[in-house]
Amino acid sequence: DSSKFMAADLVIQLSSTPKTKPDVFDFGSVFTDHMLTIEWTVTEGWQAPLIKPFENLSLHPACSSLHYGIQLFEGMKAYRGDDDRLRLFRPMLNMNRMSNSAKRACLPAFDQAELLECIRRLVETDQEWVPHSDSAALYIRPTFISTEAGSYFNAEGLSLWADPKYTRAWKGGTGDCKMGGNYACSLLAQYKAVDYGCQQVLWLYGEDHQITEAGTMNIFLHWINEDGEEELATPPLDGIILPGVTRQSILELTRKWGEFKVTESYLTMSQLCSAVEEQRVKEMFGSGTACMICPIGNIVYQGEIS
Ligand code: COI
Repeated sequence: DSSKFMAADLVIQLSSTPKTKPDVFDFGSVFTDHMLTIEWTVTEGWQAPLIKPFENLSLHPACSSLHYGIQLFEGMKAYRGDDDRLRLFRPMLNMNRMSNSAKRACLPAFDQAELLECIRRLVETDQEWVPHSDSAALYIRPTFISTEAGSYFNAEGLSLWADPKYTRAWKGGTGDCKMGGNYACSLLAQYKAVDYGCQQVLWLYGEDHQITEAGTMNIFLHWINEDGEEELATPPLDGIILPGVTRQSILELTRKWGEFKVTESYLTMSQLCSAVEEQRVKEMFGSGTACMICPIGNIVYQGEIS
């Protein structure tokens, strides 16, 4: 059953070069002799857990934990009691939180009790690394990273799903930086969009449902605005919009053409809905380095398709 890994399948390869244990431990500066790894692949699911000598990871340069921040971690501790027995502090709370984080990051599900048993075996293997002290403990750092190469998809006549429940970026956040975490936090909404029969998310912001971005692209609306002028509009760089190189190039180029008004201005869903109804929308498109320009075909918003 590849949907699950089992602690009973655990393989242990012991280190032949155990390190000497220092007297003083600075947090995160000294590592034990072993590590636990459990691999998952799209084609084969979960593999047997493995405890092996501590070593660096080897990752594909395109892996999506590096590019899109698709990763999570836990922090937990093993203590040595006065009775010399080792105890993990409330580890099922960590397993539970880890499982919730995995769902949010769209990483595969795992059995919490099986993972905990694997961790218990790791601590047992490295038991001498749990300090013989009542003022120190062994810190355990379960880490779940996506090692698959990242991809994205591009389409003509893109369909977008707009639901204010999900937010890509917020004031004071990192949405205007090209940082992996922005993509990781967007992924679940992307899957929801597909569930609703759309290809990507139309990211909204605020009470008035401002239109901000489409999928991983900036967004442009070529329309007849409320003053009856032909206009190409895109949201301003106010902290929640990624300053796209393609976005900037489109603005510079079309301003040079001088054929229509070009603005960086706020657009709301209600403005867009009225414009669609009144047939004032000429074209809407996403822009980005990967896709260049991607025309938008339709939007699903509050259960309606336009
Ligand atoms: C790009 O358009 O170049 C991006 O970085 C978006 C990426 C998700 C493909």
